[in-house]
Amino acid sequence: MLRLLAGVCLLFAGWGTFCQAAPAQTPSAMGAEASASEQAARIQLGRRLFYDADLSGDGSMACASCHEQRHAFADGMPTHAGITDEAGVRNVPSLGNVGAFKTLTWLDQHITTLEQQVSTPVFEHGPVEMGMPDWPTLLHRVSGDACYQKLFAQAFKAENGRIDSRTVPEALAAFERTLISRESLWDKAQQKKADLPEGAQRGAALFFGSARCASCHTGDVFSDQSFYVITPNHPARVRTPSLRNVGVTAPYLHDGSAPTLNAAIQAHTHSPAFSPMDEKALEAFLQTLTDQSFLHNPALALPPESCPV
Ligand code: HEC
Ligand code: HEC
Repeated sequence: MLRLLAGVCLLFAGWGTFCQAAPAQTPSAMGAEASASEQAARIQLGRRLFYDADLSGDGSMACASCHEQRHAFADGMPTHAGITDEAGVRNVPSLGNVGAFKTLTWLDQHITTLEQQVSTPVFEHGPVEMGMPDWPTLLHRVSGDACYQKLFAQAFKAENGRIDSRTVPEALAAFERTLISRESLWDKAQQKKADLPEGAQRGAALFFGSARCASCHTGDVFSDQSFYVITPNHPARVRTPSLRNVGVTAPYLHDGSAPTLNAAIQAHTHSPAFSPMDEKALEAFLQTLTDQSFLHNPALALPPESCPV
């Protein structure tokens, strides 16, 4: 029985539009080469799975329960309890541009593909998130749904529409690679299509200049993808997070311990001391990294409940 997650974002949902996967993203390692129409079908299918609470043990929690579009696919809480109410340990990261990351999660250097990452929230116990007992239970549930049968048949032709522990993660990962956010005010200013407010311009000058933020928060996603200890309170080495959409992903840091941007900036104990004016300017710059079109793109929202095929 398919149980789509009820929630926000339904209004403009439509099956018609799809994002192109970004060229930099890794294609599926093992899958047969997919045609363009198969790829589009995989993305649709992955989107449905992403919003489907049937992927959790008790049918109460979807990926989208923690990764909400309006928070750039983070969730606005320090941590998020799973289906058993066991407290979460880490802050839910945004999934914006997640296909560009070489390693996944805040601290783990061994999870290197989106396909591989899927089993962590679905099955793992440290802490329980979606609390699915095992692959056979999940596959039994998904396979029992007539709509999924049709969607898998369209999305995985060489596999004869097989619903298994490879095709489910591949579909989810195909959708996740369309979570591309590159249309912030900052991007528009870079393309000379908009002007940054003065405070944000000063913040940008600091960020890329004397404040040396860009020595780690660099490149297209504002992350060098390396691991650092930035504060003695958090001794673990943490992957430099992307700063895109950081204006809508509070609270911050791997444990959600910084409630505001200001607190997150101050947690960097090796940074130079900033005047309140500098802090305001840095924040104003960070706010220009919010991409409204990403937060409202109907192709990324909760899909209609009716079967699209
Ligand atoms: C209970 C909340 C919760 C649910 C449900 C959940 N996640 Fe997450 N997700 C998290 C947290 C917390 C992290 C960070 C984990 C860590 O760093 O150890 C995370 C990390 C990720 C990452 C890595 C992002 C990055 O920047 O490296 C991806 C990708 C991801 N989740 C995808 C999914 C998918 C796909 C699903 C559904 C199959 C899902 N998540 C379900 C809470 C959740
Ligand atoms: C040495 C590398 C490094 C430098 C330099 C650096 N950062 Fe960070 N930044 C990180 C890491 C690593 C984290 C994650 C730390 C954690 O979660 O414990 C982080 C986290 C953040 C966050 C929170 C993001 C989130 O999603 O939780 C913000 C905001 C931020 N940095 C802004 C800045 C600003 C502004 C500067 C310049 C004043 C700066 N950073 C300089 C490495 C760096």
